[in-house]
Amino acid sequence: MIIIFEGIDGCGKTTQVKLLCNYLKKNKIKYLKLKEPTKEFKDILNKNLPPLFHFFIFNASRFLVYSKIKKLKDKYWIIIDRSFPSTFVYQWYVGNVKKYINKEMLLKINKLVTQNIKIDKVFVIDIDPEVAYKRIKRESLFERKPLEYFKKLKDAYLKLSKDFGWKIIDGNDSPENINFKIRKILKI
Ligand code: TYD
Repeated sequence: MIIIFEGIDGCGKTTQVKLLCNYLKKNKIKYLKLKEPTKEFKDILNKNLPPLFHFFIFNASRFLVYSKIKKLKDKYWIIIDRSFPSTFVYQWYVGNVKKYINKEMLLKINKLVTQNIKIDKVFVIDIDPEVAYKRIKRESLFERKPLEYFKKLKDAYLKLSKDFGWKIIDGNDSPENINFKIRKILKI
């Protein structure tokens, strides 16, 4: 089983990853928790460079992550905190990389870096951008953006979820209830 958690910064996705992993652990289901982007790319991503540059760095990072997944996916449940849906939303749609790379090309590149590995579920935790915005206190390039940017990200997640069949989860609920809903969908 391969599951991706997504959503705008501050949506509570990392808490959901944790809750699901705790549940898997309790039930003796072997899992692997992964995060994109990987550490070695963090510094370069914090530089103020154009979205097209970021697009390729995220894809490079992703290629390494999926190489690992390829080896381990039959033995472990794979839980990923952000993956290609983030690139589709942040760089391609909101960052306007779609100006250079059309949908067909985007999917081709994605197929290449994710090595044709089938994803079972993408959960998008959807919350009010103002709530998310207030939650974010950390300093990073991505999180220093104005509220308007968060609204654009939310709209992009909703639009692309429709196009790609990602499951939208209402994030305006307690973490436990959200976890319950997610487990119900996963039938565990
Ligand atoms: P980080 O602090 O690592 O994670 P999070 O907010 O998920 O806890 O920040 C990751 C940032 O990188 C986040 O703002 C989203 C962004 N991002 C992209 O723009 N494109 C991508 O492909 C990925 C994986 C992340």
